[in-house]
Amino acid sequence: MELLGTLRSTGSVRAFEDRPVPDAVVDDVLDHARFAPSGGNRQPWRVAVVADQATRLRMQTMMRAVWTEYIEAIEAGRTPFAAGSTAAQPPAARRSRDNPLINAIPSAPVALVVAANLNDIALMDGDLARTPVTAGASIYPFCWSILLAARAFGLGGVLATFLSRTEAEAGPLLRLPPDHALAATIFLGYPVHQPTRLRRRPVDEFTFREHFAGEPFRTNALN
Ligand SMILES: Cc1cc2nc3c(=O)[nH]c(=O)nc-3n(C[C@H](O)[C@H](O)[C@H](O)COP(=O)(O)O)c2cc1C
Repeated sequence: MELLGTLRSTGSVRAFEDRPVPDAVVDDVLDHARFAPSGGNRQPWRVAVVADQATRLRMQTMMRAVWTEYIEAIEAGRTPFAAGSTAAQPPAARRSRDNPLINAIPSAPVALVVAANLNDIALMDGDLARTPVTAGASIYPFCWSILLAARAFGLGGVLATFLSRTEAEAGPLLRLPPDHALAATIFLGYPVHQPTRLRRRPVDEFTFREHFAGEPFRTNALN
């Protein structure tokens, strides 16, 4: 696929055809994703390809509990699990507790759990008096490359971080090595529908000249 078009049109897929994805294709996806950048080229990723139904069902139970917390926060007018202020939203209408992605966990053709080796990650903002964000910088480009590579093989997918909240239970279940953190769960499969019209903010809404309070970065570019 053409790169720029792919960047603009790779939407999340949460419903998959009932068609298995051969291991060789999963291998191919990971073989392309491994070229993702990481700090010091330490490549801190470790991936579990989880097919076992009992493990999937336990993951589903754990992630469903987090989803319940998530929508309860939204209904209470809080941004769920916000790293900063949680009071960012007006209270939302009640949302369905039925989450198609969570329902699909046992049947999704591919479930990848991505862990990060903390000994291979530089926490550049770890000493600041706020929530650190740089720890993820060496693992999430890899995750996004998985989703982009998957698209090139006709697959769709979505990344979720809910399992990280349950690491105390999910870690032993998945035999997470010491000094590793659960970074993401990625579900892949042949999409029932591949969304390609994505809603994203325009460049001049989030880009400013010279500093973050500068003039909006507007050009005559026609994109
Ligand atoms: C860090 C991260 C966590 C996400 N967690 C979830 C999740 O738990 N469940 C889910 O259905 N989608 C999850 N997503 C997908 C986002 O909901 C999706 O990227 C966003 O809503 C944009 O929608 P689109 O891809 O359909 O355009 C996550 C995406 C990211 C980058």
